[in-house]
Amino acid sequence: MASPRILLLSALAAVAPAANAQNFGGGARGADDFTYVQPLNTTILSAYGHSPAVYPSPKISGNGGWKDAMAKAQDFVSQLTPEEKADMVTGAAGPCVGNIKRIERLGFNGLCLQDGPLSIRVADYASVFSAGVSAAASWDRKILYERGFAMGEEFKAKGAHVALSPVCGPLGRSAYSGRNWEGFAADPYLTGVAMEETIKGHQDAGVQATPKHFIGNEQETQRNPKFDETGTNVIQEAVSSNIDDRTMHELYLWPFANSVRAKAASIMCSYQRLNGSYGCENSKTLNGLLKGELGFQGYVMSDWGAVHSGVASIESGLDMNMPGGLGSYGMDPTLGSFFGANVTTAVNNGTLDATRLDDMIRRLNTFFKKKDWKAEDWNMTGESSRDVRGNHGDLIRKHGAEATVLLKNVNKALPLKAPKSIAVFGNDAGDITEGFLNQKDYEFGTLAAGGGSGTGRLTYIITPLEAVKARAKKDGALVQQWLNNTLIASSNVTDLWNPTPPEVCIVFLKTWAEEGADRKHLSVDWDGEEIVASVAKDCANTVVVTHSSGINVLPFADHPNVTAILAAHYPGQESGNSIADILYGDVNPSGHLPYTIAFNGTDYNAPPTTQVNTTGIDDWQSWFDEKLEIDYRYFDAHNISVRYEFGFGLSYTTFELADVKVETLDSAITTTPKDEPIQPGGNPALWAPLYNVTVEVSNTGDVDGAAVPQLYVNFPAATTPAGTPPQQLRGFDKVMLKKGEKATVSFELMRRDLSYWDVVSQGWVIPAGEFTLSAGLSSRDFKAQAKVTPIKA
Ligand SMILES: *[C@@H]1O[C@H](CO)[C@@H](O)[C@H](O)[C@H]1NC(C)=O
Ligand SMILES: *[C@@H]1O[C@H](CO)[C@@H](O)[C@H](O)[C@H]1NC(C)=O
Ligand SMILES: *[C@@H]1O[C@H](CO)[C@@H](O)[C@H](O)[C@H]1NC(C)=O
Ligand SMILES: *[C@@H]1O[C@H](CO)[C@@H](O)[C@H](O)[C@H]1NC(C)=O
Ligand SMILES: *[C@@H]1O[C@H](CO)[C@@H](O)[C@H](O)[C@H]1NC(C)=O
Ligand SMILES: *[C@@H]1O[C@H](CO)[C@@H](O)[C@H](O)[C@H]1NC(C)=O
Ligand SMILES: *[C@@H]1O[C@H](CO)[C@@H](O)[C@H](O)[C@H]1NC(C)=O
Ligand SMILES: *[C@@H]1O[C@H](CO)[C@@H](O)[C@H](O)[C@H]1NC(C)=O
Ligand SMILES: *[C@@H]1O[C@H](CO)[C@@H](O)[C@H](O)[C@H]1NC(C)=O
Ligand SMILES: *[C@@H]1O[C@H](CO)[C@@H](O)[C@H](O)[C@H]1NC(C)=O
Ligand SMILES: *[C@@H]1O[C@H](CO)[C@@H](O)[C@H](O)[C@H]1NC(C)=O
Ligand SMILES: *[C@@H]1O[C@H](CO)[C@@H](O)[C@H](O)[C@H]1NC(C)=O
Repeated sequence: MASPRILLLSALAAVAPAANAQNFGGGARGADDFTYVQPLNTTILSAYGHSPAVYPSPKISGNGGWKDAMAKAQDFVSQLTPEEKADMVTGAAGPCVGNIKRIERLGFNGLCLQDGPLSIRVADYASVFSAGVSAAASWDRKILYERGFAMGEEFKAKGAHVALSPVCGPLGRSAYSGRNWEGFAADPYLTGVAMEETIKGHQDAGVQATPKHFIGNEQETQRNPKFDETGTNVIQEAVSSNIDDRTMHELYLWPFANSVRAKAASIMCSYQRLNGSYGCENSKTLNGLLKGELGFQGYVMSDWGAVHSGVASIESGLDMNMPGGLGSYGMDPTLGSFFGANVTTAVNNGTLDATRLDDMIRRLNTFFKKKDWKAEDWNMTGESSRDVRGNHGDLIRKHGAEATVLLKNVNKALPLKAPKSIAVFGNDAGDITEGFLNQKDYEFGTLAAGGGSGTGRLTYIITPLEAVKARAKKDGALVQQWLNNTLIASSNVTDLWNPTPPEVCIVFLKTWAEEGADRKHLSVDWDGEEIVASVAKDCANTVVVTHSSGINVLPFADHPNVTAILAAHYPGQESGNSIADILYGDVNPSGHLPYTIAFNGTDYNAPPTTQVNTTGIDDWQSWFDEKLEIDYRYFDAHNISVRYEFGFGLSYTTFELADVKVETLDSAITTTPKDEPIQPGGNPALWAPLYNVTVEVSNTGDVDGAAVPQLYVNFPAATTPAGTPPQQLRGFDKVMLKKGEKATVSFELMRRDLSYWDVVSQGWVIPAGEFTLSAGLSSRDFKAQAKVTPIKA
């Protein structure tokens, strides 16, 4: 067709190879460049790091209401020729990032798979939504669903059947991981809820969700093997994430369980190795955990070029090879495929069980049959460059504002009170001077998203400067701006703004992160700390706004002239309007941190392995020996002071929590769950509510605002295995309250919320003894507590 309306910008960009990571722009700061060399320890290597074999690959059961759809899918499978079957599981060339060929004689129009988690990336006239980290910072289920639904509408309207979204791997083990911003929070509970809401949103809008990357994809460095110059011989295998069984269940698998329960159609397996075995051919994780324990009914799709074998991957649980070919990132179908004709041969020569191949296709088709999928609903040959944005700009503006986290606010600096003279500083304030692709760490221009396959193509961007100017005009204010960080850092700012000193200085800072590279430091980029110092030296009312992938250490937070700090993350295309709404108090901030801000980058544990000193093929290892101690779980366990803790966020009003009450919903709670037939999400007994915890929230300040009450659980120390974090998030809500108003919020505690994973019995166990339930406004600001004893000691 002449002009495919899905604009393929660059298929290769989908995987943003490491070459992309070489130039870290002005952000790199020699002094705190981060390097972690994983010591080589052959003793551990031989004792640990092997994935047990789990075969055969479980067949789809139809449980969870999919039996009829499964029967229809089986009917479809029975009409396919062997060649058509191979085509159904192998990516082919086509207009989308991933393509499955059409089968005209059966009315199957093929499949179009598109990136990514904040936008339909390789398309124009589509919206760029807030990034996962921003969506998580809203702590708002409604926003998470609404965002997922609106994104789903755009994918469908552009003709894509499958959205390669959302992300819960990386979860955020390390502060430095380059892709944390694509995912949600450094906490499995908040991330799990975010996954569920986003997946429901996508799929209710008619597009298949693909939670990714399964599993242990917690760093970018060496995520793929390194090949010699022929491109075929491996010099060093990809890094291996070596994760113990309890940590796997309580951290990394947790949000995938929510995803499966939300009936995600597909799950993408990851690039790196897990206990020594590649993510897309690890039978323990794919057959054992995902299809077995969690009862996943959909299909496992590979990350782009993550397939390293044919029959072995299929037997380990991989159902679809994307993009299907061989060569660099599997991009070249002319070189053949590990799947394709090899699948047909393997069935014919008896190496591959034909029923396994049928199961792969049934898994792929069941979703369509269930959704009563009609080919006409998707139009892959329609008008080129058609506008699918609808009114989503309004939603994005609201989502960006509601997700902005107010970290500091002294002397009632914010909201602004109609200042007559405003100075705006920083290269993040203004327009992008190098195009709208958002694939580059350019010097001038505001950052609304990071780079790689998780980015979006901006049709427009509202900059902070233009939004502040538009708002200030209503007050007849003077707005002056300096966007050259080098100039600001080396100037006496009084010389710049003479003769009209500003009543407020607003400094916009940015921090880039992208797929394919881990972060080198946790400071803001482009000498941001120096420009804050330069401005604050002479401006007693300095307001700092960060547009960032996530964690930044904020040394200037102690500066008395820095009166306010706002973490706005990556808010998407309405960025400027979102922040102006907050600065002027049109929206009262209610975002809360989905991670912890420490005092110093060296305070964080769980570093990614960024270098190995040796050349052995197997030497890239990453030992997750911090176990459950990531982010606040670590800082709490070691009593380390932090600057702003997980869950923290201020408002222009104040809130109180009181009166925690606990209603028992199950009068005979047992230590272990009843053995019920596995449904999507695992044993349904794990999801049964045991307690209903209520707490009264009141707005004690003088303006309306939204509170985010949070519930943390402390397990009984004597009966829970060592290494259990002191506090774990197990409930949250977001509630809008008029000034002086009170409301009761409730948190349902499910069995899983009060259980630990017992490696001996291979099951979830509620320990005997007393749990402490703490309701608070952050992970370190508890206001009211209650005790429960589900099992008598
Ligand atoms: C890596 O090599 C450097 C330079 O030879 C050495 O200083 C360092 O101790 C080595 N680190 C490890 C973990 O082997
Ligand atoms: C390797 O790991 C083993 C087991 O944890 C430990 O006893 C040993 O000291 C380690 N060796 C080195 C050189 O770090
Ligand atoms: C990885 O190895 C650890 C240590 O032996 C084990 O506890 C865990 O279950 C293994 N996980 C997988 C998925 O192989
Ligand atoms: C079958 O797989 C092998 C790699 O194992 C590959 O070299 C070959 O090209 C494939 N054959 C076809 C027809 O795709
Ligand atoms: C069967 O075909 C597969 C795929 O081409 C190949 O890997 C395998 O070696 C073959 N086995 C036999 C016994 O011919
Ligand atoms: C797809 O879009 C084109 C152009 O807008 C239109 O002509 C065609 O009828 C549409 N096809 C279907 C199946 O809706
Ligand atoms: C930014 O300011 C520095 C220092 O004054 C100057 O050297 C540089 O040329 C300026 N950059 C631009 C793009 O104007
Ligand atoms: C800024 O002012 C200080 C104090 O007046 C002076 O020492 C310094 O040289 C000035 N710096 C610049 C870059 O003008
Ligand atoms: C704060 O700003 C004022 C100018 O308004 C300046 O005199 C003072 O030195 C600044 N304080 C610090 C700690 O830089
Ligand atoms: C962070 O910690 C490192 C190592 O302890 C230290 O060298 C550095 O000065 C600290 N940085 C800050 C900003 O405190
Ligand atoms: C944690 O720190 C606080 C205050 O610094 C102290 O009172 C408390 O004893 C410490 N707890 C532990 C377990 O170290
Ligand atoms: C929990 O309590 C709230 C408030 O009383 C109520 O609305 C909700 O239905 C209760 N949930 C359950 C499962 O009982």
